[in-house]
Amino acid sequence: MSKQALWSGRFAGGMAESTLEFTSSLDTDSAMVFFDVMGSLAHVRMLKKCKIIPDEDADRIIGGLKTIVSEIENGEFEFDYSLEDVHTCVEYRLTDLIGPAGGKLHTGRSRNDQVATDFRMYLRESVLDVVSAIDNLVDTFIKVAQEHGETILPGFTHMQHAQPVTVAQHYLAYAFKLARDADRFLDAYERMNKCPLGSAALAGTTYPIDRKMTAEALGFTAPTENSMDSVSDRDFVNELAFCASQTAIHLSSISEELVYWSSQEFAFIEMDDKYTTGSSIMPQKKNPDIAELIRGRTGSAVGTLVNMLVMTKGLPLSYNRDLQEDKRPLMDTLESLTQSLTIMAPVISTMRINKDRMRECAENGFTNATDLADYLVTKGIPFREAHGIVGASVRYCIDKGKILDDLTVEEFKGFCDRIDSDVYDFIAVDRCVERRNSIGGTSSASTDEQMLIAISELMGREDIVRQENELAERCWNALLE
Ligand code: ARG
Repeated sequence: MSKQALWSGRFAGGMAESTLEFTSSLDTDSAMVFFDVMGSLAHVRMLKKCKIIPDEDADRIIGGLKTIVSEIENGEFEFDYSLEDVHTCVEYRLTDLIGPAGGKLHTGRSRNDQVATDFRMYLRESVLDVVSAIDNLVDTFIKVAQEHGETILPGFTHMQHAQPVTVAQHYLAYAFKLARDADRFLDAYERMNKCPLGSAALAGTTYPIDRKMTAEALGFTAPTENSMDSVSDRDFVNELAFCASQTAIHLSSISEELVYWSSQEFAFIEMDDKYTTGSSIMPQKKNPDIAELIRGRTGSAVGTLVNMLVMTKGLPLSYNRDLQEDKRPLMDTLESLTQSLTIMAPVISTMRINKDRMRECAENGFTNATDLADYLVTKGIPFREAHGIVGASVRYCIDKGKILDDLTVEEFKGFCDRIDSDVYDFIAVDRCVERRNSIGGTSSASTDEQMLIAISELMGREDIVRQENELAERCWNALLE
């Protein structure tokens, strides 16, 4: 005999099997069971303190909920799929364990505020995991940058050789992009870190509850301000879906580069055997499948964002069952993103960087043409005019199969008589790099400065993540006391 829904009183007949199957959220919200019980523990302790239910009942409920926590921790908690959702499963199990007093737990709350609270708690933990995974990758890029302050490669614009840069500069660019992704997640975290519990179905409750107490017990910064807002909005889900999409998009660009940098044509890097795969037919192949899969997963992250935006569009106040569709997509997206971030770190830290090949490309691609123009400027020629002179020199070199550094002083003088033998030193790629000493430029002084900034920001975020994880741990321990 299947158990009845929590709301069965008003109904003469039971629900059809197909209705239960279609409306159940248990396959997804079972992932939030720990947080659901923590929310209930906070709620019942508050009901007790505010004298809304008798002490003996509250104590019995607390005892039952603690038993449920140990069942969850031992993998013994059984989800009953004849029930609608995780909240119902927990309440039924509680009543099994302690009898009718279990029915007092739901005083002054609703599943609408419960689910909004549970999901925020679940997401807080996922977000901290994502941020840690991002920061591990940021740390990896900083370490590669530290090792390659003098490794020169061509920087590209429009995928054409542009100016010489260092691997340090190139990889610090990724470190800062990812650092912003981590910051964005933490910003969203702060905004969603308010507690909806006690908003009840939509309008608040007639019981003299203490919402500040439950918010604090669950590690939130404050109760949410408006009960209807609390049960009706999933803007925090949409925001996190954007944060995840942006991070996935950054990862996709990094992956794309790993793919073509490891091609025979580029040969800038060689990935470690451990992080590549072979072909079942072509024995010579060493394929960058990890990078390709990370790039490919961007689709589902962006899909989740579009899904969530459209799912919430036009929803009237306040709770609507559409909102149940928010969990699986974002849970999957955050989990998949954490996996991508986690595997990318060793791909980067173990790959071999082909310094000679990079330098050869930097030296042979006219990446110092801007510097030749800058040289002419030091000789008093206006930049615009210098640009034209260098353009003509480059065209000449291409015709002759030379690079600028190969031209004799006489050949140079054919383009501009102010060019002397000091030009060779001026346009050497190492000099080109070192002269780009403006804030954020590619010189070693600048990249050293950037590394300090990146490391201090990283440490700041690590502190926040540690503090938030510790706060959660303290809350759970206190609730289980
Ligand atoms: N499973 C629901 C959800 O995820 C929980 C809230 C159900 N509330 C209701 N009134 N049916 O949104």
